[in-house]
Amino acid sequence: MRTKIVAGNWKLNNTKEESKKLVKALKKGLKLSKLKNTRVIVAPTFVNLSASLKSAKKSKIEVAAQNMHQAKNGAFTGEVSADMLQSIGINTVILGHSERRTYFNETDTALAEKVSAVLEHQMETIFCFGELLEDRKSNNHFSVVEAQLKNALFHLKSSDWKSIILAYEPVWAIGTGETATAEQAQEMHAFIRGLIANKYTADVADDVSILYGGSVKPTNAEEIFSKPDVDGGLIGGAALNASDFIAIIKAI
Ligand code: 13P
Repeated sequence: MRTKIVAGNWKLNNTKEESKKLVKALKKGLKLSKLKNTRVIVAPTFVNLSASLKSAKKSKIEVAAQNMHQAKNGAFTGEVSADMLQSIGINTVILGHSERRTYFNETDTALAEKVSAVLEHQMETIFCFGELLEDRKSNNHFSVVEAQLKNALFHLKSSDWKSIILAYEPVWAIGTGETATAEQAQEMHAFIRGLIANKYTADVADDVSILYGGSVKPTNAEEIFSKPDVDGGLIGGAALNASDFIAIIKAI
């Protein structure tokens, strides 16, 4: 059975104190909840990873990074490597977020290298992808998503997929308040699972968790999560508020 996951991508938000406070509030709020087969992950910015890890100790809350460089080391000013993340206890990293693709020109080729670096380090990734509004309007959303997955992930071996969590985030739904309908999410997730089954096996496809991201709120989480191929969510804005994030986690 695949794992349900609710992850909060904090993006460029929260100071050290704010990060600690938010993790502690989540810890308190989740204390009594029985979340069987559900992982809860938060992704603070690099400088607050250690403090967040410390605050999350003795709780269900896991901590992930928002990005990583593909090189082992070298002259890449401002970047962070897999070794560096592992050395502070981080084993999960978000890759391919649309904001990284748009503002920092991350290409499918660079992302394929980043994914390989994650796997070489026995880490795992929450790999993000999704179409632009114009892709959906021109009915190209399936082919865009297919290309993103093929270019960055289809060099992997079947066994590598246990370290991959997918996050379908249609760009037009990120931070816009406009969410995909539960039916649109289900349709795309089923399509993605079909692609993986075709390239690999039905078992590989069945086991991969596919999260939906884009304006998930306490008010719409339950409906989106009720769909059979939606295994959880990658939450932006609503993950910055402890009670909203807890409500979303409880909707799974
Ligand atoms: P919002 O939930 O703010 O739309 O952000 C989604 C997202 O980008 C998560 O990675």
